[in-house]
Amino acid sequence: MRDPRVIPTELLAWYDRHARVLPWRMPPGGGAADPYRVWLSEVMLQQTTVAAVKSYFQRFTSLWPTVHDLAAAEDAQVMAEWAGLGYYARARNLVACARAVAAMDGFPDTREGLAALPGIGAYTSAAIAAIAFDRPETVVDGNVERVVARLFAVETPLPAAKPELVALATRLTPPRRSGDFAQAMMDLGATICTPRSPACGICPIIPHCAARAQGIAADLPRKAPKKAKPLRRGIVWIGFAEGAVLVETRPDRGLLGGTLAFPSTGWDGSDLPPPASADWQEIGLVRHVFTHFALDLTVMSAPLTAAPQRGSLAPFSEFRPSALPGLMRKAWALARPETATGSATTGRRGKPWRNPPQSPA
Ligand code: ADE
Repeated sequence: MRDPRVIPTELLAWYDRHARVLPWRMPPGGGAADPYRVWLSEVMLQQTTVAAVKSYFQRFTSLWPTVHDLAAAEDAQVMAEWAGLGYYARARNLVACARAVAAMDGFPDTREGLAALPGIGAYTSAAIAAIAFDRPETVVDGNVERVVARLFAVETPLPAAKPELVALATRLTPPRRSGDFAQAMMDLGATICTPRSPACGICPIIPHCAARAQGIAADLPRKAPKKAKPLRRGIVWIGFAEGAVLVETRPDRGLLGGTLAFPSTGWDGSDLPPPASADWQEIGLVRHVFTHFALDLTVMSAPLTAAPQRGSLAPFSEFRPSALPGLMRKAWALARPETATGSATTGRRGKPWRNPPQSPA
């Protein structure tokens, strides 16, 4: 085993040659990154994969190139553009944060200052301070946890191992280029030190890896068994009237808060009646897994014969299924009539969530 103090230097040398090219990054050594782009990408990347984030990041930065542009955006447009990324509290906080920053002199340049803004927690404040402002902060996401657990052969299962992993990552973080170091750890975790079958043969810091030396790299980090999620049930009603569909905006607080939706019962056992009396027919079932529970929603559909008591009618010409969150897109895929344009999966496919998610929707 070699002197672990050379790990940052060796890893940064590897990063200088092999950093992933990502739309929010400056090339290594390419100067200061734009704090707005760093912040936006880090918020999008919370619980979400790089592959899923790329197109959203590009769309947001072309619609709103600066934090002032985003601050001036309509809430509903931001929610619609966020649809499909999940964890919608992030989108609500995004707008609140943009407005707070626009009213200040730009982004604060310390971790503490950043952490006082809406939607910026311990992880994100450290990431922005290190990447955008070159502060010597330690950034620990799932990739970094895995790399550190293996480097030091930490056998304590997650999540109990977290404080130990953070302490070890902090000891490794160099005083300069901390942001590049953090991203180098992330890239190593995403491309070489992968969860299954790590490519140890091409790892730039293999001589330092205690897990590899013990032959247990692929077994780490250990994880405590997950608790089974409870199953909840509800009903969603998709009502049609003359080339239009009944939609509503969900209340800001609560699950999928602020998103476009079809009227439904509560999903916590609370009952809400159908939005209109009609000859509702059951057309299928959609299942969705949230952070703390799984949800089975029975999808009902009907032509509306009476004025609805909730929601408003969106003409098919204006209705964009891509503005719906994933759960509602699944319901729409069952109910969508031939005459409605737009497919339920327009443009964006796949499951953008990382498992396990760490914060409620
Ligand atoms: N995940 C979170 N932040 C990231 C970043 N800056 N680069 C790559 N993956 C990330």
